[in-house]
Amino acid sequence: MSGKHIILFGPPGAGKGTQAVKLVDLLQVPHISTGDMFRENIKNQTDLGKLAQSYTSNGKLVPDEVTIAMVRDRLSRDDVKKGFLLDGFPRSVPQAEELEKILGELGLQIDHVVNISVRDEDIRTRLAKRAEIEGRVDDADPAVIQNRLDVYKSQSEPCLGYFRPKGVVRDIDGIGTIDEVFDRIQKVL
Ligand code: AP5
Ligand code: MG
Repeated sequence: MSGKHIILFGPPGAGKGTQAVKLVDLLQVPHISTGDMFRENIKNQTDLGKLAQSYTSNGKLVPDEVTIAMVRDRLSRDDVKKGFLLDGFPRSVPQAEELEKILGELGLQIDHVVNISVRDEDIRTRLAKRAEIEGRVDDADPAVIQNRLDVYKSQSEPCLGYFRPKGVVRDIDGIGTIDEVFDRIQKVL
């Protein structure tokens, strides 16, 4: 295991959150999910939550400056020195650039970008299923799911072009059982 500063990357429904739960248990590092942070703020109707809600409910990205400030604040805590699992951040090139700056200030760097791929049709099936079970508002409407997929392709996927030349991207096939995918991830870390 070379280092534990890890980004979990991939489209909505790729299994980032599912794999993160298993990985934080294995690696004993904090799980930093921007989606979870926004949902927590929305639940508590904080100012940040009220702002985020208008974007997340439509499947749009929350503005970079808001998201980056939230992550910057979280990364200022000491527990990230030993490692972290970033889940859902960065998802735009400006976020990736800003992350590198923040980590530079902390004397840290990204060791792995775990890029989980799943085809759009499998994503739709997974999210429709979760809509029934968990009732996440952004899973309920096929148009919002499509928006999330489009936003991923236009704004988030270009982050891979930013990270690939650094030699840190590990491509993972996200189809299979949760344990099969987890095994694949363990092998590349
Ligand atoms: P976020 O919460 O990050 O949502 P997302 O990226 O759309 O992805 P999901 O959480 O839906 O999927 P996942 O990859 O975690 O998969 P999961 O493990 O849950 O973001 C939500 C919103 O917040 C964004 O749309 C945006 O508005 C905002 N936001 C967040 N970060 C932002 C940022 N950096 N900048 C700006 N805005 C931001 O799995 C999905 C389902 O599939 C589950 O039901 C699971 O049980 C199932 N599943 C998992 N693995 C498997 C498997 N191997 N086989 C079958 N089913 C599986
Ligand atoms: Mg998630």
